[in-house]
Amino acid sequence: MTPLDEAVSYLQQRLHRTPKIAVVLGSGLGVFAEALADRVEVPYNEIPHWPRSTAIGHAGKLIIGKLGSLEVICLSGRAHLYEGYSPQQVTFSVRVMKKLGVASMVFTNAAGGINLAYEQGALVLISDHINLQGINPLAGPNDDSLGPRFPDMSEAYSTHFRYLAKLVAAELHIPLAEGVYAGLLGPSYETPAEIRYLRAIGADLVGMSTVPEVIVASHMGMNVLAISCVTNMAAGILPQKIHHEEVLETGARVRDTLVRLLREVLPRLESKS
Ligand code: HPA
Repeated sequence: MTPLDEAVSYLQQRLHRTPKIAVVLGSGLGVFAEALADRVEVPYNEIPHWPRSTAIGHAGKLIIGKLGSLEVICLSGRAHLYEGYSPQQVTFSVRVMKKLGVASMVFTNAAGGINLAYEQGALVLISDHINLQGINPLAGPNDDSLGPRFPDMSEAYSTHFRYLAKLVAAELHIPLAEGVYAGLLGPSYETPAEIRYLRAIGADLVGMSTVPEVIVASHMGMNVLAISCVTNMAAGILPQKIHHEEVLETGARVRDTLVRLLREVLPRLESKS
């Protein structure tokens, strides 16, 4: 059995349930999963071949549970390239989700705000990305059973899902901007010159995750929704340094709003996917 199949069959035995939707919870957002009913939790270190997350603010477990009548899988904590994981390890969880029967992925992350219209704590729907991580997780032999050799990426972030998310946000009176996410390797934050460069090439947000996962999800034909929390304004915008603690604090401050949004958005996505 391949590592992928081993992880999938292990989770099938542990979970006995097959949700159609999975949510990846970024820094400080693990609390979303705690509100689910009939929870089953599987720590990442019990799943064969699953990379353990080492980042602060990432719990490192898979939680399956009910949001009303909707079954969802939450991935609390993710592996990052900056931790030294390979592109294959970083995207392993997305491949497992697909093989478990998940059709739609929702990604959340913390990001630096490049667009000057954003404020710290803003929620931003990702409309597109710029891959500056220096890797592509699809490099190497292509498994044609998963997806095509040269996958189209013109709608990696589902237009329909974005429409639904904006509709729900408006109903809840939650401001939800939209923007382009530049994915960098990290782990150092950017320099002010790099942020000016990113703004010039059309980026509104900058972060160190999500891009490889979305490429792999898109390759396998999954629908993607991604929401960034602007935990800080990017380097050089404000006369202050960026601290990881600040990123976590802002994540914690807006998490209730993001959780409220996710709770209303997820059931709508399922019915349409
Ligand atoms: N840069 C990159 N990644 C980030 C940032 C940032 O400013 N904030 C949160 N994640």
